[in-house]
Amino acid sequence: MRPTLSHRLSMGAVLCIATLGIPWFLRAQNDAEKIYKTNCVLCHSVDGSGNSPSGKALGAQDLRSEVVQKKTDAELAEAIARGKGKMPAFGKKLKPEDISKLVAYIRALPKGK
Ligand code: HEC
Repeated sequence: MRPTLSHRLSMGAVLCIATLGIPWFLRAQNDAEKIYKTNCVLCHSVDGSGNSPSGKALGAQDLRSEVVQKKTDAELAEAIARGKGKMPAFGKKLKPEDISKLVAYIRALPKGK
């Protein structure tokens, strides 16, 4: 039995989704990671713990802690955009969608302790 035309078309569609869909998701993830590594790691460390020398000196919170995770997305986005305590404001440097990506990234940080 030869594959019908519609059969081949639907296989094509599946391949399209597979090749376009997955990289889109990975790109979004990498984006947030890149923004975090460029702007936030200095104080908050790669793992979010804030155990870096500047993080400790400035009193950066552990982003994985309940205190931070308990806050709403809007509160976290505002802290990033406007700065807080010794943390600089990023509202001028980052686009609002980058800030929302960072909020999602902070939510997805693996729990430390
Ligand atoms: C110069 C050091 C520094 C940099 C760079 C920095 N932070 Fe912070 N961050 C801090 C400090 C210090 C605090 C604690 C502020 C306070 O509560 O007084 C903090 C707190 C936070 C909080 C908790 C806010 C809250 O409401 O309790 C979040 C979320 C956060 N930072 C995210 C980020 C993100 C995302 C970036 C990168 C775009 C970033 N920080 C870059 C120093 C920094």
